[in-house]
Amino acid sequence: MRILFVCLGNICRSPTAEGVLRHQLQLAGLATQVEVASAGTGDWHVGKPPDSRTLKAAARRGYDFSAQRAQQVSAGDFAAYDLILAMDQSNLRDLERLRPAHARAQLDLFLRRYEGAVDEVPDPYYEGEQGFEQVLDLIEAACSELVREIKGRL
Ligand code: 4NP
Repeated sequence: MRILFVCLGNICRSPTAEGVLRHQLQLAGLATQVEVASAGTGDWHVGKPPDSRTLKAAARRGYDFSAQRAQQVSAGDFAAYDLILAMDQSNLRDLERLRPAHARAQLDLFLRRYEGAVDEVPDPYYEGEQGFEQVLDLIEAACSELVREIKGRL
């Protein structure tokens, strides 16, 4: 099973989702059965590691996302992944425009599928430290739901 998380820049939200899901899959003993990646709809940060504030917030909770490098999502990803999860409505709209007619991947809004109360992971790029904490809170909760779903599917 292959899962791709997508945000705008691939340096804040989607790398966080990639790292948190990978960590939770490891704890659940499912790391070898699920492939996880992330990408941005934009290309400004391609090749760069996550934002320093993303890395700092992650480190406070014991995660290390420093090996990740930003990449841009492509139409080919709709054939390569089973599930593509967008962080906000704007990302989802951009992905719908990019999606080929006979896409294999399922496309959805991450939090609509797994959390409920809030639909979007808010863009923390122009926010303070608290914004990055909120991103982690939302993503950790939704990833727990996602792992539960994966366990049911495998
Ligand atoms: P992300 O956050 O989409 O969660 O990675 C952003 C990163 C960069 C920019 C905007 C949002 N930017 O405008 O460069």
